[in-house]
Amino acid sequence: MTDSSVRRGQAPAKINLYLEVLGRRPDGFHELLTVLQTIDVCDELTVSLRERRAQLAPGAVDVTLELLAPPAGACADSEPNPARDGSSPSAVPSGPDNLVLRAATALLAESRAGGDVGVSLQLLKRIPAGAGLGGGSSDAALTLRLLDELLGSPCGSAVHQRLAATLGSDVPFFLVGGTGLCSGRGEIVEPLAGPRPFEVLLRFPGFGLSTPTVYGALKADRLPAGPRPPHGDIVSSFDNASTTTLEHLYRNDLEAPALRSEPRLASMMEQRGFHLSGSGSTLFRFCPTEESAAEETSGQFVRTVSRTR
Ligand code: C5P
Repeated sequence: MTDSSVRRGQAPAKINLYLEVLGRRPDGFHELLTVLQTIDVCDELTVSLRERRAQLAPGAVDVTLELLAPPAGACADSEPNPARDGSSPSAVPSGPDNLVLRAATALLAESRAGGDVGVSLQLLKRIPAGAGLGGGSSDAALTLRLLDELLGSPCGSAVHQRLAATLGSDVPFFLVGGTGLCSGRGEIVEPLAGPRPFEVLLRFPGFGLSTPTVYGALKADRLPAGPRPPHGDIVSSFDNASTTTLEHLYRNDLEAPALRSEPRLASMMEQRGFHLSGSGSTLFRFCPTEESAAEETSGQFVRTVSRTR
């Protein structure tokens, strides 16, 4: 296979530095104001063009997916890997529900190349599924970009944004990465200069949470009230913010419904100031540099850094 028919890339996870639910929408989604930040825990994706399989009907899309687990021993003890060590909360779908397959199929349809080429996707998962880290969304965004490049860029970024929004609320953010203020149901992305680089300790609790279940537990009569900084204040507050400022700015209106859905989270969150990423289940806390507790050496913990675009 030639270099011109293969593209590889990293799909980073995200955490939510701020998540405010503004209300329920008629389409069943919730209106959000959220600040997303990419972090240095990444899936790895390889996209290859190949001959179409002869047995397929003319015009049928030919996309295959191979899911790879990180090789045993690839991670040092200091680099625990929840997607490999059994604390991964939910199975990653390998069938048509997988977002990379849906992304590749959507891009092929849009570029009208679906009847001409076959596409092989290889996805090495490090980001646990059902974890509030946007792994599937990030994989999908990278699929759109890499496959479009391989096809000679018939679509471009405006089409990527449109397709991304149909794949999931977080997918458009991952086309940009870094720090983003996301509104609407999450698909309207305003890139931010963002905070100073920071370290974060992630905790994967060993079970996943379903995003629709957590949103479902956010009953209309319990929508959080309370003070809300104006949009301009949010943008400027995160600009060049220190971890102390990030700690003050942190808000997640999905914490309460996540705790109602999964009471085991409560004691984990109380321990040393953990926060929830998105709808969970991953917990995170900004890392004071002097701390290195024994618990951090277990496979549930990963220390990582923020990632710019
Ligand atoms: O867009 P995405 O597929 O990630 O959304 C998954 C589910 O999360 C939706 O079906 C909906 O139940 C919930 N959701 C929501 N409001 C949002 C984003 C997601 O209610 N803004």
